[in-house]
Amino acid sequence: MAVEDNGTSEAGAPGSGVDWEALKAAAVAAMKNAYAPYSKFPVGAAALTGDGRIVSGCNVENASYGLTLCAECALVGHLHMTGGGLLRAFYCVDAGGSILMPCGRCRQLLYEFRAPGMELMTTQGIKTMDQVLPDAFGPQHLEEPQ
Ligand code: THU
Repeated sequence: MAVEDNGTSEAGAPGSGVDWEALKAAAVAAMKNAYAPYSKFPVGAAALTGDGRIVSGCNVENASYGLTLCAECALVGHLHMTGGGLLRAFYCVDAGGSILMPCGRCRQLLYEFRAPGMELMTTQGIKTMDQVLPDAFGPQHLEEPQ
């Protein structure tokens, strides 16, 4: 990983042109809107779009526990409510602002809307979508007969 102290990566390095600190700040701000009375585990997620917007979301739980919406669900909703497009970079945080890995279901949600080379801030540094969801099922599998 090559992230400078100010959170902005060098040109050509992983995370190039991404202001990771701004993404983290947006994720933390989103987390503060979480509705998580059951798990008491607020989550915030933020992503940079191909056209430079920042979209974000928080988790929204339900008394019927299995209906919980992860922060990434709100994020992809925000993406579409503000013009659609694809995601270039992603950051997810817990209540303490620490990096949180997206759950398996949410990796699939993010995969659907990934820009080529999309990167995620992970607990192991910057990774690509393909690294966190290898051999993914996606829209391409619906296009042609097997
Ligand atoms: N959660 C998310 O919002 N995103 C994830 O990727 C992992 C889990 C939420 C769901 C639930 O409200 C809480 O974290 C505890 O699982």
